[in-house]
Amino acid sequence: MDEKTIVCRCEEVTLGTIKDTVQHYNCSPREVKLRTRAGMGYCGGRTCRNVINQVVEEINKKPITDEVQLSYRSPVRPVTLGVLGGVTHDNEG
Ligand code: FES
Repeated sequence: MDEKTIVCRCEEVTLGTIKDTVQHYNCSPREVKLRTRAGMGYCGGRTCRNVINQVVEEINKKPITDEVQLSYRSPVRPVTLGVLGGVTHDNEG
């Protein structure tokens, strides 16, 4: 991968941006997320989390502890109030 490789497809964050952020701020994966939005996208970090963790580990040269790993989020999907209320198309009208 080169510096222009997109690591977080949802937020279009490159490997170079993540590396620069970790080197400049000496930060954890969670801080990378807050500073770059990598991991905050539609997939909830499922696609990019492992790469971000790996980059942070490699640059900081120490394993990531549980409290600074990226948290898991549910994927975002729009749901209507009718669906939440149990309304189906048959009894809407
Ligand atoms: S790829 Fe990073 S949040 Fe989806």
